[in-house]
Amino acid sequence: MTVKKAVIPAAGFGTRFLPATKAQPKEMLPIIDTPTIQYVVQEAVDSGIEDILIISGKGKRAIEDHFDRNPELEARLEESEKEKLFNEMRHIADMANIHFIRQKEINGLGDAIYYARYHTGNEPFAVLLGDTIVDSVIPVTQQLIDAFEQYNASILAVEKVPKDKVSRYGIVGGKRLSDTIMEVSEFVEKPDPATAPSDLAIAGRYILTPEIYTALEQTPKGKNNEIQLTDAFKILSKREKVIADTIEGKRYDIGNKLDFLKTTVEFALKRKEFSEEFGEFLKETVAGLK
Ligand code: G1P
Repeated sequence: MTVKKAVIPAAGFGTRFLPATKAQPKEMLPIIDTPTIQYVVQEAVDSGIEDILIISGKGKRAIEDHFDRNPELEARLEESEKEKLFNEMRHIADMANIHFIRQKEINGLGDAIYYARYHTGNEPFAVLLGDTIVDSVIPVTQQLIDAFEQYNASILAVEKVPKDKVSRYGIVGGKRLSDTIMEVSEFVEKPDPATAPSDLAIAGRYILTPEIYTALEQTPKGKNNEIQLTDAFKILSKREKVIADTIEGKRYDIGNKLDFLKTTVEFALKRKEFSEEFGEFLKETVAGLK
């Protein structure tokens, strides 16, 4: 069975980015001029997925508006002969079939995913966290779909992280099947580095089999008193294989301020219209540092 649907959880408060996220979704924070979630939707589309369910919630309406048509804006752009922008705005509304469901209360990533059960039904599906961008030659979701086709099991994207960062992530441990593939038997959400099973962190991309829903029903509240997706894998892995795939690409966690700054700088340097002048500015700024 191939993966045809994706779920993008985008319901969290964004407390790490206050006050910017007090009245706007963190997923709409732009990297230069493009909201983070648009990069995420593009990754799903580039991986061959056109059916996307976004789990939204209170204060997230801007995401719906962003992927909708805006006829007044389009008319204005057409009148003023801004054809390129006009086409770009049309493209955003036509990127994919995007559906929305609202998580009624913020109760963890596991709970958010559980809202997708009627939409994905009996099919495997991709999950892309709405505050993470990965820059890679092959889109990460495509890399995971390739692994899914090989192993026919749930696949978690993982990435090696420095020891002092393991407490920020879900960490996995298990039996290595190759340099990049592990059959996972241990899952800990945000562990103490001293007791973490490895330095492999769950990187915000997953392929899940429908059995995840039964596992989620049996998952008690965990870290932060929320239903954690990472905890559901503990139950799932006792019933079927769960595979971790070390992804190729550079991950950007937009949900925290420092990484957001770094992402903006790197992406600006890659943009033709800014690279030269912005590069010069950075060089001068760095030269002036003490
Ligand atoms: C979530 C997951 C965690 C994963 C991380 C990746 O945590 O619960 O397992 O490693 O995303 O970004 P969050 O960042 O939402 O706290």
